[in-house]
Amino acid sequence: MLGSVFTTLVLSTLATAHIILTYPGWRGNNLIENDTFPYGMQWMYPCGGMGTSRNRTYWPTLGGAIAFQPGWFQGHDKATLYVNLGFGTDGPDNGPKNMSFPMVPPFGLLGPSKGPYPGTVCLPQVPLPANTVMSPGDNATIQVVELAQHGAALYSCVDITFVEPGDPRVGHVNETNCFNSTDLGFSDIYTITTKEVGAIVNATTTSAAAIVNSIRSSGGAWMGYVPLVLGAFWLLI
Ligand SMILES: *[C@@H]1O[C@H](CO)[C@@H](O)[C@H](O)[C@H]1NC(C)=O
Ligand SMILES: *[C@@H]1O[C@H](CO)[C@@H](O)[C@H](O)[C@H]1NC(C)=O
Ligand SMILES: *[C@@H]1O[C@H](CO)[C@@H](O)[C@H](O)[C@H]1NC(C)=O
Ligand SMILES: *[C@@H]1O[C@H](CO)[C@@H](O)[C@H](O)[C@H]1NC(C)=O
Ligand SMILES: *[C@@H]1O[C@H](CO)[C@@H](O)[C@H](O)[C@H]1NC(C)=O
Ligand SMILES: *[C@@H]1O[C@H](CO)[C@@H](O)[C@H](O)[C@H]1NC(C)=O
Ligand SMILES: *[C@@H]1O[C@H](CO)[C@@H](O)[C@H](O)[C@H]1NC(C)=O
Repeated sequence: MLGSVFTTLVLSTLATAHIILTYPGWRGNNLIENDTFPYGMQWMYPCGGMGTSRNRTYWPTLGGAIAFQPGWFQGHDKATLYVNLGFGTDGPDNGPKNMSFPMVPPFGLLGPSKGPYPGTVCLPQVPLPANTVMSPGDNATIQVVELAQHGAALYSCVDITFVEPGDPRVGHVNETNCFNSTDLGFSDIYTITTKEVGAIVNATTTSAAAIVNSIRSSGGAWMGYVPLVLGAFWLLI
């Protein structure tokens, strides 16, 4: 009984998690959960289970707008967003070899609640990855990754062909398709080094004696951290 309640909850959480690329488009609807993708398509690397598009969309050689709805992320009011580019068509499924080229630094997304929420994020001028130059006619794939707080990630992609800036085939960007919803917030992600590579760790502070002392000084509260099996064993003796 408990098992089935748990399963239902997990399935409903996954079923509502999604990200939709609204500009410049997407490979297609991958908000699908079926026997092939029992956890939902969007969790599949690199593009949420969607194959490379034949219907590429056009995007400027100097970069342009990317808009998405980070979605109904039930139970997760925070996420981390990545926007990457993969070059060419020499990889699997006539897509890129990899998606290893970040276009913007990763950033934190703050949702309005732990419940599902609508809302749009638009980055109006996403540049090409550092030190890259594209020519009109080159193909590439833009990947948006939404990293959940539990460490799994949702993926959605759009396949593009580069064109000169101002080309009429580039979708018009305006306040209808490129805006930030007021109920979504953003945060910076900093990496704070706590131990340099190769640094000598001070053994005295991490010795067993120090750990025992810190347990003693916590006055018994540490019992809560005894692993369950060990705790049960202690009850028996
Ligand atoms: C490509 O075609 C698919 C399937 O019809 C559609 O869902 C998707 O939005 C299209 N993508 C673009 C970029 O036009
Ligand atoms: C699940 O959906 C995907 C995408 O539409 C499809 O390719 C696949 O065949 C489906 N699997 C089943 C078992 O229906
Ligand atoms: C990743 O893709 C780039 C561009 O296609 C390519 O130059 C590079 O060798 C690839 N890296 C790996 C590890 O395959
Ligand atoms: C880019 O993709 C289009 C559509 O799939 C294809 O016709 C074209 O040959 C590709 N261009 C290159 C340079 O691979
Ligand atoms: C924005 O551009 C889209 C697509 O061209 C168009 O449908 C929409 O009416 C435009 N909105 C405004 C406010 O101009
Ligand atoms: C939306 O917010 C992001 C992050 O602060 C910002 O980079 C971007 O320019 C904003 N988009 C618009 C359309 O103002
Ligand atoms: C190591 O830790 C001890 C106790 O905290 C301290 O007295 C000592 O200065 C530390 N040594 C180094 C090299 O940091």
